[in-house]
Amino acid sequence: MKDTSSNSSAKKNAGYKAAEYVEDGMVLGLGTGSTTHFFIEKVGMRIKEEGIKVMGIPTSFQSLLIAKEWNIPITTLEEHDIDLSVDGADEVDSEFNLIKGGGAAHTKEKIVDYAADQFIVIVDESKVVESLGAFPVPVEVLPDASRMVMKALEDMGATCEIRMAQRKDGPVITDNGNFVIDAKFDEIESPAHLEIDLNSIPGVVENGIFSQMVDKVIIGTDDGTKEL
Ligand code: A5P
Repeated sequence: MKDTSSNSSAKKNAGYKAAEYVEDGMVLGLGTGSTTHFFIEKVGMRIKEEGIKVMGIPTSFQSLLIAKEWNIPITTLEEHDIDLSVDGADEVDSEFNLIKGGGAAHTKEKIVDYAADQFIVIVDESKVVESLGAFPVPVEVLPDASRMVMKALEDMGATCEIRMAQRKDGPVITDNGNFVIDAKFDEIESPAHLEIDLNSIPGVVENGIFSQMVDKVIIGTDDGTKEL
């Protein structure tokens, strides 16, 4: 779905900068993806070097495994509220609306990021756009509903495909056991309305538009960061 090897110094700068916002005692939402990988790594380094005490709530098996590698204590939304969530994005527009889900983790990401007191998005410059839509909107669906959801999405004007796995035959199966439909719209006039409309199709679990949730965007560049 995406090339995670590119822009790694920009991603690292963004991830490491976000880790500066972590304070002793915080419960953190741990996003998913190659940029958030650097954030989790830096939080792990701060625990080791400065002795800060934090807990993490992962948004995927990927972020769980990275957190464990860095000895970040894990907790759940059943046990704790979240002070700060840090997550990547596939697109960020000028009003801080996002498309997420390039790694098929957007359902849990949305639950965790929405629950956080503060939500910081970390991206490299290639993710910053004037308006959303060049990247297809990932829509997680119950497998039994996939054909019907695809029909409904096409009626809404999208071109759709079920996301296929790369080192497994057949479709990508999300951490929740579902399929992902990538829905490409020619134009997304209102991300907030589209987010609601997509979730009103029976069988849709969650879609990758995150409207009006973001507190801060940290953009990584090859030699530093910019904050919006
Ligand atoms: C995971 O499903 C996504 O929402 C990622 O957060 C998003 O695709 C950004 O990933 P990268 O940081 O790897 O570009």
